[in-house]
Amino acid sequence: MAAFGVIDKVGMAYESGGRKAPVVAIEEVSCTIADGEFVALLGPSGCGKTTLLRIVAGLVSKTSGTIQIRGKEVTGPQRDFGFVFQSLNLLPWRSVLDNVLFPMEILGLRNAAAVARAQELLEMVGLAGLGRSRPSQLSGGMQQRVALCRALIHKPVLLLMDEPFGALDELTRMEMHDLLLNIRAATKTTVLFVTHSVSEAIYLSDQVLVFSRRPGRIVENIKVDLPYPRRAQIRYSEAFTQLERRASEALGVFKCAMPG
Ligand SMILES: Nc1ncnc2c1ncn2[C@@H]1O[C@H](COP(=O)(O)OP(=O)(O)OP(=O)(O)O)[C@@H](O)[C@H]1O
Ligand SMILES: [Mg+2]
Repeated sequence: MAAFGVIDKVGMAYESGGRKAPVVAIEEVSCTIADGEFVALLGPSGCGKTTLLRIVAGLVSKTSGTIQIRGKEVTGPQRDFGFVFQSLNLLPWRSVLDNVLFPMEILGLRNAAAVARAQELLEMVGLAGLGRSRPSQLSGGMQQRVALCRALIHKPVLLLMDEPFGALDELTRMEMHDLLLNIRAATKTTVLFVTHSVSEAIYLSDQVLVFSRRPGRIVENIKVDLPYPRRAQIRYSEAFTQLERRASEALGVFKCAMPG
């Protein structure tokens, strides 16, 4: 069976302008993504995670390599992908329901079925009854769930998420992990998820791609064979800790020089 996605030797150098050398963000990044797989891009700040996600989304053009999703080369923005960015960009003057439906309006597909689906999604994330509220009336975690519904409204084949839970407190973050995994199990959506949290990457994913510092290269590809559904207790298991250790080692956290 052909892979769902193939990222082959992708590189990106940003022009710095003037006579300065280009900034090489990522170099020779290759991986394959299976249909329905949850893949985390884990790496330190500035290693090019957002760059790669934006390239996969077709929002930024790469300087080298190829990306194929479902057998088609990605050369521009894709309608059948969904996004959640760290800055949620919810429209403050619109209701929660109208925010979720916004992509359907852009696509010219807002109809009764779309409204029903939006309500279904809001119910799935525990926001039933809040469709008429404004985003500002919701907590950060609730706003995050609205953004997730908005990303899923058009049944994307691939969900791209860029550090979506970075601003949330630990408990809300863990709740969002379980919510996301439930939704992913229900919708069978393939997910590419950027994070710099080791435990978040392992808890969520089938596959964790660990990046080096810039220029970002994949230094380790970790298959997480912990069974789904995952429950919070698994975070304290021996297997989980070992995977965390492996990812941390690949990130280089044990190389920090200790004084004395
Ligand atoms: N539009 C741009 N123009 C020039 N350089 C850029 C641009 N976007 C990103 N860069 C540079 O590319 C490198 C990688 O940036 P990127 O945002 O992809 O990293 P990141 O891994 O997402 O970091 P973080 O974890 O802090 O979000 C950085 O050195 C950054 O300064
Ligand atoms: Mg980033």
